Amino acid sequence: MQSARRQRERAVRMSVKVWETHSADETFALGREIGRRAQAGDVYTLVGDLGTGKTVLTQGVAAGLGIGEPVSSPTFTILQIYEEGRLPFYHFDVYRIGDVAEMDEIGYEDYFYGGGVCLIEWANLIGEILPPACHEIKIEKDLSRGCDYRRITVADPM
Ligand SMILES: Nc1ncnc2c1ncn2[C@@H]1O[C@H](COP(=O)(O)OP(=O)(O)OP(=O)(O)O)[C@@H](O)[C@H]1O
Ligand SMILES: [Mg+2]
Repeated sequence: MQSARRQRERAVRMSVKVWETHSADETFALGREIGRRAQAGDVYTLVGDLGTGKTVLTQGVAAGLGIGEPVSSPTFTILQIYEEGRLPFYHFDVYRIGDVAEMDEIGYEDYFYGGGVCLIEWANLIGEILPPACHEIKIEKDLSRGCDYRRITVADPM
């Protein structure tokens, strides 16, 4: 009861758009458009099963921010920082996080509430510390539509 009420208090009106892509290039291009429109302080959460294209979309966002250096998901680092673009870009991949306390150790609040753009792969694993108004991106496969088909739902706070 208590937590349901707290959730309602956090509720933010969202504008939801659904995109369909049929190749990694199309997903990259969608990410690039998101990166071009991103504003200081934006936090993007990215969820989807293994291999759905979270990193491909992230690479597009980085390109849209004007980052030239290659973006990947490093195995043992939760956070990669890119400062050469239009805005600082903070790329989190929390897949291997054991405990949310690890986010405290890296001082996540400086990034979530700073002047750059945050993008968090596997954001569902750290739901309890996410800011109330994130841009929420979900990538899903539908094998009945082919191996390369992805449905990408983008919910922006209004
Ligand atoms: N429509 C599509 N959009 C994105 N990637 C696609 C698409 N079709 C095929 N792919 C392929 O799917 C793979 C997606 O890999 P990627 O590393 O981006 O996934 P991920 O969600 O980040 O995985 P992980 O959870 O392991 O980090 C790539 O090999 C890419 O070429
Ligand atoms: Mg990835």
